[in-house]
Amino acid sequence: MCGIVGYIGKKEKKELILSALKELEYRGYDSAGIAVMKDGRIDAFKAIGKLGNLEKKTKDFTSHNEGAAIGHTRWATHGKPTEINAHPHFGEHSYIVHNGIIENYREIKEALIKEGITFLSQTDTEVAVYLFEYNLKNSKNAFEAFEKTILSLKGAYAILLITTTAPDSIFFAKNAAPLIVGKNDEGEIFFGSSDAPLIGHAKEVCYLEDGQYGVLNKNEILLYADRKKVLPVFKDLPQDKSYAQKEGFRFFMEKEIYEQSRVLGETLMGRIKNNEIVLEELDEHLFEGISAVKICACGTSFHAGLAAGYLFERFAKIRTDIIIASEFRYKEPLLTKDTLFVVISQSGETADTLEALKIAKNAGLKTLAICNVDNSSIVRLADSTILTRAGIEKGVASTKAFATQVATLWLLAIFIAQKQKSVSKERLESEIDTLLKIPSSLIVDNATHEKIKRLSKRYLHGHGFFFIGRDIFYPLALEGALKLKEISYLHAEGYPAGEMKHGPIALVDSKLFTVALLPKTMLYDKTKNNIEELSARDATILVISPERFELADDFIKTQHSTHVMNEFFEMMIILQLLALEIAVRLGNDVDMPRNLAKSVTVE
Ligand code: M6R
Repeated sequence: MCGIVGYIGKKEKKELILSALKELEYRGYDSAGIAVMKDGRIDAFKAIGKLGNLEKKTKDFTSHNEGAAIGHTRWATHGKPTEINAHPHFGEHSYIVHNGIIENYREIKEALIKEGITFLSQTDTEVAVYLFEYNLKNSKNAFEAFEKTILSLKGAYAILLITTTAPDSIFFAKNAAPLIVGKNDEGEIFFGSSDAPLIGHAKEVCYLEDGQYGVLNKNEILLYADRKKVLPVFKDLPQDKSYAQKEGFRFFMEKEIYEQSRVLGETLMGRIKNNEIVLEELDEHLFEGISAVKICACGTSFHAGLAAGYLFERFAKIRTDIIIASEFRYKEPLLTKDTLFVVISQSGETADTLEALKIAKNAGLKTLAICNVDNSSIVRLADSTILTRAGIEKGVASTKAFATQVATLWLLAIFIAQKQKSVSKERLESEIDTLLKIPSSLIVDNATHEKIKRLSKRYLHGHGFFFIGRDIFYPLALEGALKLKEISYLHAEGYPAGEMKHGPIALVDSKLFTVALLPKTMLYDKTKNNIEELSARDATILVISPERFELADDFIKTQHSTHVMNEFFEMMIILQLLALEIAVRLGNDVDMPRNLAKSVTVE
């Protein structure tokens, strides 16, 4: 995801901004840029690829003495990762950096084009700097123009803007994207999209709230929300860097679990307009002549594919089969051109998935990648891509990548349903309505997390775990078992609840732990019967459900929901936290479990 930094002070600004951007590298990026203001003039540099390229470009540039500077690392969303699309974007007098997505950029762009303004880039960000300069013509001062601009933007943004019309200042705004202001006793001011670049420089920080904006120079901080002045609240900044990258969490995996509600918002951003799914990245002819879908992936991404199988057949009414990539490669698959070949991958570099994609391409199939990393090998090879926008995932055990994959595939299922008119208008509307609200189902409930921490101590021994569920909760059970295996090194298997009596039930005794997914909106009574069968054989059972279940040894209560996907995502978080807390108690390396790599680029 993009990173933002800013600085006002006397130090050499290029070095300071570049080293601050380095602290944000872990978020992932594909281009970078800086703009430095000194003596009423702005110098700017951009480069694609790693920061080293920007370092080379700026090697003869220095900027000492009082001044302001901004910097950015870009993770492409609108427009390819080119130098033109890299930030800072600029107008006649001003430069801007932005994280997030401006949802109403098209409307603003069209209006500005009518005013004779020509755009250079394909980004949403450029509208903000042009709109600012346009507003400047009819405003008393730069702040008034900035305020007008910010109040007309919709979507997510963390913005820094410098302008020669107010040369000592940085204008800033935050909504649904992080932005932090820091200061120290030497009168220096810093901005960052996380704590990490501020450590060692700022003594105190103010975490801006959504809807806040303002202007800052070395003498004063003016902070506003909705045209009213607010008082900035500063607190001491801990000076430990690794703590900062984890944003206060013990592990990246934990941070990533907590991030899921926010990143899901990003997955959906700009893709639902006027109650319709809009996937601008897809060719409008992609589904012509298509009567089946084949999904191919590995690991967690395969589980997301299995979940998609239920959604595609149910909503889109399209025949869907799902296969593990390493199996697909050598089975001499029969491929027909009426099949859309979908690969799912967090990294976009998984060797088996990439090879499967090549096989499908060579057979002349239309291909679509669901991927988190733009410009990865899989994205470059597939005919079309939908980016999941989870941001960089550091924990080897995938969490937010899975959540965003499932959300993207659900979005796609509804998109196909909308296109093929395969479900009623009312059903479509209710799906879209649920989808829009889904990020709130992924907010981690602190009390539930505390309960899981306590419960985890009872699950450190035994001879294994069954995770069971029905329908779309079956792939979730598989994913819950995989998470536990990966980081606790305990044996765990996922099963369809109805399959137990066909063999696995032979293993059941009191030292066999069963984690049962018992949603209220999907086959409740049937799953309950299956759990009862296990309880009769003395299994130790942890039930996750909105309804209390008398035969459970342990019980984690979920919310009563009306839609199956609310229950799916809430239970997903519980399974992730359960794996995490068991692994923590066992003293394992949660973020880098033994024998595993984040990206599996070998067969
Ligand atoms: O990058 P990909 O999604 O293609 O990776 C596929 C699997 O290697 C990956 O999901 C793996 O199973 C994770 N460690 C799961 O937590």
